[in-house]
Amino acid sequence: MQIDVIDRVHSPLVGSTHPFMSGPFTPNLVELNARELEVIGEIPPRLDGVYLRNTQNPVQQPRGTYHPFDGDGMLHLLSFRRGQVEYRNRFLRTKGFIEEQRAGRALYAGLIDKPSLSERPGWGARGGLRDTAATDVIVHAGEALATFYQCGEPYRLDARTLDMKGVSPWAARVLADGGISAHPKVCPRTGDLLFFNYSKQAPYMHYGEVDRNDRLVHYVPVPLSGPRLPHDMCFTENYAILDDFPLHWDEALLAQGRHKLVYRSDRPTRFAVVPRRHMASREIRWFEASPTYVLHWLNAWEEGSELVMHGYHQKEPMPKAGYDNSGNTLGPERYGPTLYEWRLDLATGKTTERRLDERLLEFGMVNARHWGRPYRYSYNMVAHPGSFLFDGILRYDHISGRSQQYLFGEGRFGSESPMAPCHDAQAEDDGYVVSFITDMKADRSECVVLDARDISRGPVARIVLPHRISSGTHSCWADGSEIKETAQSRQAKGDSA
Ligand SMILES: [Fe+2]
Repeated sequence: MQIDVIDRVHSPLVGSTHPFMSGPFTPNLVELNARELEVIGEIPPRLDGVYLRNTQNPVQQPRGTYHPFDGDGMLHLLSFRRGQVEYRNRFLRTKGFIEEQRAGRALYAGLIDKPSLSERPGWGARGGLRDTAATDVIVHAGEALATFYQCGEPYRLDARTLDMKGVSPWAARVLADGGISAHPKVCPRTGDLLFFNYSKQAPYMHYGEVDRNDRLVHYVPVPLSGPRLPHDMCFTENYAILDDFPLHWDEALLAQGRHKLVYRSDRPTRFAVVPRRHMASREIRWFEASPTYVLHWLNAWEEGSELVMHGYHQKEPMPKAGYDNSGNTLGPERYGPTLYEWRLDLATGKTTERRLDERLLEFGMVNARHWGRPYRYSYNMVAHPGSFLFDGILRYDHISGRSQQYLFGEGRFGSESPMAPCHDAQAEDDGYVVSFITDMKADRSECVVLDARDISRGPVARIVLPHRISSGTHSCWADGSEIKETAQSRQAKGDSA
């Protein structure tokens, strides 16, 4: 293995026993480039692209109570090309990260703290948060795009080298509305980035589109009756679908400046069906459904007069136990997320809904070439009981209802695992599922590569990383043909510049 140390970040948190700063959540502080990695098995030669995963890596001593979503962002990259791989990891050097590096201490409070504990206005719908860009990562307009769950600025990076490219210029036009939420989507048909934001100021939510040349080309208000806390969105060929769930800040307390979550089970879920920019109509249509909260959507598509949505319906959106810092209160079993289907009928205005499966699943991925249109397979994460960790992947066949799974093994944890289609794939499941594993027994990390058609057989390749990485959240796969080639990225993949 050939390893180059690119940089090291000093942190007073080394040796912390905090449950979200130790064990599988131990922050990485060293940035590496690594080649000639140890491979057990064979890297599929038909894989050409990048696997990116975002993670939380706290650097400064928190001002108050640490929540794992407060951690500074770090991207991990495995770049595949002609049966070879290269690994890199880099901190997301956001404005807030750089400010705190210069100060040598935390300037911003965390999610659990009062915003007034922050020294600066900060970012986020709640206010006073550090925009870490640590939540999500996607590839749009040829570059990686990292985003923050409570809204912030879209940070762009070279998708082969992880060199920071700064914030997209168009973001300045939407920053007053919160900027951009995590979980924007890229339409595989148009290459457009579809995004939303939310804030405490009316109209409380907006929807926008950014074209494949990174120009903001569409931006409309989505008026709500008050501040909400959506997390994800889905879309079809002609519509974006945005969320208004009855889980939000208590309105009376918010008027006093307090941010307390309340679940109003007496109120319906509402979905906004927003026409995409090519549609003649600008009319937003609203649909109601039974009360719940959906953290993540799998996909949506059009079927006759219906919009069909698949996501994880929560049985208990407001668990009784609060955040106790034990590392045991973010487990999906508290919320009860299961695969679920909603059908919004544009002809009748009615919603029908049904549970697809009883098992607790979350953080699912589909072949992104099928985003916004019919699909058959999803790759869902199997929760580790009692913690914000995952034990394996369950492949679900949405037509037959059959499933199969691959478990990582004792003491081995993964997180969201993208489906990586072969560059010349002809079928939806002609490809691989990739996942970074944090192996606590072997004290190392690896990337497992599973045949998407039969993940139960176990990895066709295990690629050993140069260090153990912290368990993370969201990830993506991007085909090599989608990535903007630069002199640096050509060098990174070993071609002559
Ligand atoms: Fe998320």
